[in-house]
Amino acid sequence: MRFRLYLETDLNRVFSGAVPQVAASELAFVAGLEPEVHQTGRTAYLSFEADELPGEVGSLCASAALFEEVEPDLLRPIELGESLKFPTDVVSIQRYRGKTNERFTRLMINLAKAAAPNDRPVLLDPMCGRGTTLNWALVYGLRSVGFDDDLRSLTDYATFLEQWAKNHRFPHQITKYRKGNSELRAMSFTVARTRDELKAKKHPDIETYHLPAGGDHRGLPKQPRFGALVTDLPYGAQHQMASGKGKRRVGADELVEAQVDDWRMLCGKDAAVVVAWNVKETKRRDLKSVLYRGGFEALSTPEFTHVVDRAITRDVIVASARSAEQPAPGSDPVSSEGV
Ligand SMILES: C[S@@+](CC[C@H](N)C(=O)[O-])C[C@H]1O[C@@H](n2cnc3c(N)ncnc32)[C@H](O)[C@@H]1O
Repeated sequence: MRFRLYLETDLNRVFSGAVPQVAASELAFVAGLEPEVHQTGRTAYLSFEADELPGEVGSLCASAALFEEVEPDLLRPIELGESLKFPTDVVSIQRYRGKTNERFTRLMINLAKAAAPNDRPVLLDPMCGRGTTLNWALVYGLRSVGFDDDLRSLTDYATFLEQWAKNHRFPHQITKYRKGNSELRAMSFTVARTRDELKAKKHPDIETYHLPAGGDHRGLPKQPRFGALVTDLPYGAQHQMASGKGKRRVGADELVEAQVDDWRMLCGKDAAVVVAWNVKETKRRDLKSVLYRGGFEALSTPEFTHVVDRAITRDVIVASARSAEQPAPGSDPVSSEGV
């Protein structure tokens, strides 16, 4: 059967121009299909052959409407099913400088879910900002944990979550505390649609911790082994990437190097890692090498590179946690590859 998936292309928004090609790559990666991109003016769609419609189609980052091509000029509408646990305004309401595009964040989570060992991974964003990744996880019904070294972002995020739950009259619990004698500031948020549902929850939906990359994790409460790590690395110009030793600007590879051992320790067997970064600052091969030395092997994916603005061209690496039996870190297979 042949299908057409029409796309939302968000006129005048960052990332909108790249949506058709990136959405085609997303569909290819999550469902193993070979879509063709069609674009005329502001209308864009993907057409693809499939014996059966993949369940993920409704949740892709830009899905708007789906049709079966009965004949080349006769389309039968198909309802786009997706089961979301909470309204998507939790992702869209907050507006702030440095926010990761919502549609793009959803793409990263979809890639992580497709690459993770099970489809309900507990998710970690080690540079979570004000939580776009964590909010999508909530909408998808996944537990998540975020770290960031910017306390202001985490505080604003906690305030936002509480207000959002109140506005919707969702029963919720929020705890903001210092753990023991440590300076580690933490927040945990649990939310449900009914009081009984809230009572039945054994773990918070979202936790955040004030932690610099590669910082001291000793105060951290015991965490599950994460099934997926999804993060949009800071873009130098906006976030003044600083290493622990001063205000020197560092590349994405150096920033990841400082924390990749922690990532590996926190991630479970075969965990999926999805990292977005600016290729104008850091070469793909350098980031892949750092990930490999830390115990994550990049998977082969279709092309996700796209221009965000004059200074930023963004790309995505999807990697998987290596098991101990796999080649030793010294034998880095990516070192001879081009960018
Ligand atoms: C591109 S932003 C992520 C934005 C987030 N996805 C959102 O939508 O809110 C990168 C984040 O990395 C954080 N960051 C930068 N350097 C860091 C470091 N050394 N350790 C921990 N977090 C850091 C910044 O505070 C920023 O929130």
